[in-house]
Amino acid sequence: MASDRPRVLSGIQPTAGSFHLGNYLGAVRQWVAMQETHDAFYMVVDLHAITVPQDPAELRANTRLAAAQLLGAGLDPDRCTLFVQSHVPEHAQLGWVMNCLTGFGEASRMTQFKDKSAKQGADRATVGLFTYPILQIADILLYQANAVPVGEDQRQHIELTRDLAERFNGRYGQTFTVPAPYIVKETAKIFDLQDPAIKMSKSASAPKGIINLLDEPKTSAKKIKSAVTDTGTEIRFDETGKPGISNLLTIYSTLTGAGVSELEKKYEGKGYGALKTDLAEVFVDWVTPFRARTQEFLDDPETLDSILAKGAEKARAVAAETLAQAYDRVGFLPAKH
Ligand code: AMP
Ligand code: TRP
Repeated sequence: MASDRPRVLSGIQPTAGSFHLGNYLGAVRQWVAMQETHDAFYMVVDLHAITVPQDPAELRANTRLAAAQLLGAGLDPDRCTLFVQSHVPEHAQLGWVMNCLTGFGEASRMTQFKDKSAKQGADRATVGLFTYPILQIADILLYQANAVPVGEDQRQHIELTRDLAERFNGRYGQTFTVPAPYIVKETAKIFDLQDPAIKMSKSASAPKGIINLLDEPKTSAKKIKSAVTDTGTEIRFDETGKPGISNLLTIYSTLTGAGVSELEKKYEGKGYGALKTDLAEVFVDWVTPFRARTQEFLDDPETLDSILAKGAEKARAVAAETLAQAYDRVGFLPAKH
């Protein structure tokens, strides 16, 4: 992990138990690749998770489960820093400072908040849900991250992070790196298998529309085979005319490395059924070792916890330095030791 490499930071919530295919293709896959090229920090964002009600025992189990899946997907603790957000208190501390620099109006414009609070009803939505993006800003700026690999739905939060980094730097002097979103166009938005007009999502998708990576592979294969396709018979990438088939082609192409035009050629004259049957097999071949590796970490919680402890220690060293500088810039009196 050479420190002259650019920094990358990202996070995923431990709210659903299993990751879904959108999480993997939109985000986690990039995390795995970037540990080879970047000084990489990845975390399970449990502080963010409690912006909506969580059962304590489930949250604890899901936090381990998220970390195990990240390792199962290929994160290597020797190549990246993997940690749990609540193990690094600096997140909440810098979060407060950022709360005080963010306008009420600009926070009110965050579409994820608007969607989530509309779903819950304005009276039940918490202040924590409102300030969720501001904690995310602190997450990113603490590590002086250059790049933030996420799916399309996070773009607005990264834009806000850039605005706040510039605002702080302008007001108090150069302190934070201004990060850039790292969003891979092809996989930025994986769609629901039953309703290709909406993204695959743990909250909005019906069970048949979402591929959970920890489900029995047979179950997922069935869902792929019964994915909604479009009128006509031709297998062609056309997001507006053929959103269902285009989504399947994206998934197929990303899991195998075959180009979309190569796949179009391969399936010329064949029906949708052939594509779906083959994709189901491709998925099962990919997910089977993923599930086995994840299970290995779940079966050995001591190893898992020690990976997370080492990660938190490395993360804290970086976060504490940034926080100290930010506190000083803001004008807080240093505590004497
Ligand atoms: P979350 O589960 O909300 O913590 O999301 C974790 C990561 O997965 C974020 O970077 C999201 O942008 C990404 N993501 C979630 N759903 C999708 C999707 N349907 N397509 C692509 N990326 C997604
Ligand atoms: N808000 C992100 C999501 O819903 C999770 C997240 C929290 C995150 N902190 C982050 C992503 C910092 C990137 C960087 O997916």
